[in-house]
Amino acid sequence: MKILTLETTCDETAAAVITGDFKVLASVVASQDNLHQRFHGVVPEIAARAHVERILPVIDETVKKAGITLDELDAIAVANTPGLAGSLLVGLVAAKTLCVALKLPLVAVNHLHAHIYACKLASGEDVFPCIGMIVSGGHSNLYRCNAPSDFEYLGGTIDDAAGEAFDKVASMLGLPYPGGPAVSQAAVNGDRKAYRFPRSFLNDESKLAFSFSGLKTAVRYAITGGATSEFVRPDLSEQQIADLAASFEEAVVDCLVGKALLAVRQSGLSTLCVGGGVAANRRLRERLAVETEKANISLHIAPHELCTDNAVMGAIAIERFRAGLIEDLDLDLIPGLVRQ
Ligand code: KG4
Ligand code: ZN
Repeated sequence: MKILTLETTCDETAAAVITGDFKVLASVVASQDNLHQRFHGVVPEIAARAHVERILPVIDETVKKAGITLDELDAIAVANTPGLAGSLLVGLVAAKTLCVALKLPLVAVNHLHAHIYACKLASGEDVFPCIGMIVSGGHSNLYRCNAPSDFEYLGGTIDDAAGEAFDKVASMLGLPYPGGPAVSQAAVNGDRKAYRFPRSFLNDESKLAFSFSGLKTAVRYAITGGATSEFVRPDLSEQQIADLAASFEEAVVDCLVGKALLAVRQSGLSTLCVGGGVAANRRLRERLAVETEKANISLHIAPHELCTDNAVMGAIAIERFRAGLIEDLDLDLIPGLVRQ
């Protein structure tokens, strides 16, 4: 069996061909980072237009790299939720068109579940049931993952996602987009205790929730020296930038590690899977490794290349396909401002 998976939820146009025994025959990711850089964030209209230009060349390149022809495929999978509406639409229309032309079944992928599934793919172990944490530019969610097609939402951010906070803090510090890698790099030479930033809900064991918006404001005030109506960045020394980055990063990491461990404790399970762009963060990986070892939790973090958006993690579609979860061609996109 061979499946073509498409991913266009945000600002990466990606496709992969994966076999029934989870061998990746080809994976192509066309990043749009350079298009969004000067806006310090993803501009939805630009993202959608870039997907339109890239989706067919990306599919062509993927199929060629896999060394197959389209008629050797057994199914088409596409991430239809959550994401930017215009971006999702491009992948969905491409997938449906291929299904009609090739008379193939359509399989839907939840992008967040796929991020967590990347951990299973990489480890090759049966990680289910587990607690899954997805930390990306748009989401910071905790799930009880009973099976590949049975994810139960436990809690998440009540405002910004962790990656969004990294991107905005990078912009405030004058660092490039995407902010996560830049902040993480700047933090290497910083003092994590130089600034005492807030850790929302961390000491409240009754809540599996995150909040990063107050943290963003606290960083802003630390930069400007207090509340100002307009943000004007003063001249910051390299050491000040490093200290701000390190103190901010530590606050995010404390919250993510604290709540992930709380979710595992409350669930009675003993496996934690962590995926999404922010899971590439060096400090988060380090702290998760230490804390899960202490707590005797088996930890699976997606490998770097599967943390940020890609179509390989769409291999979760193989499990759905085998479970008979095939979609009608009127499948809609769900931008997903609601919890899922
Ligand atoms: O999963 P992803 O590629 O796209 C979404 O689904 O949102 O995640 C992108 C996010 C961006 O906010 C980026 O700044 C963040 O992941 N990110 C990181 C790191 N690498 C990427 N955040 C912290 N540390 C990193 N090393
Ligand atoms: Zn993502």
